[in-house]
Amino acid sequence: MWVRVLYVSRSVGPQTGTVTANILATCEAHNAAHGITGVLCQGQGLYLQVLEGERAEVNRLYNRILQDPRHHDVQMLSFEEIDRRRYPGWSMAHVVLPDDDAMVRMQHPEFDPYAATGVFMLKLVDELVVGGHRIGGAKA
Ligand SMILES: Cc1cc2nc3c(=O)[nH]c(=O)nc-3n(C[C@H](O)[C@H](O)[C@H](O)COP(=O)(O)O)c2cc1C
Repeated sequence: MWVRVLYVSRSVGPQTGTVTANILATCEAHNAAHGITGVLCQGQGLYLQVLEGERAEVNRLYNRILQDPRHHDVQMLSFEEIDRRRYPGWSMAHVVLPDDDAMVRMQHPEFDPYAATGVFMLKLVDELVVGGHRIGGAKA
């Protein structure tokens, strides 16, 4: 059984290229070996990550990610059973959220990712991936 999870979290410290490179290197090694695919969006002090794969594998990884000291305030926005992957080509695609992007709305009081629906946030991640803000990542 396959599932897809979406969570949001707040970065601890600045989201530097080194931190990102370390996370993506782990993703490349671990996710490919465990059949995990997805997207990691970062910017404005936030992470938004989609993880998809076998339910037990996704749960195991999510539990590890929860304990990672590089972020906090991790909240699951969506958990669903799926028939097919949305991001089959990516062990972890990487999207940077520029300041002039729609994601800026996250900082507005009327738009809070911690309050938005999972459906809305999944759609937003899709738009960011399709919208050309994907800057690479680890291919599956
Ligand atoms: C925002 C964020 C996303 C992460 N995504 C993944 C991921 O997709 N796959 C992965 O193996 N580790 C990911 N990690 C790293 C894990 O939290 C953890 O450090 C790594 O799996 C090694 O775990 P271990 O030290 O228990 O072996 C992520 C970390 C952060 C902060």
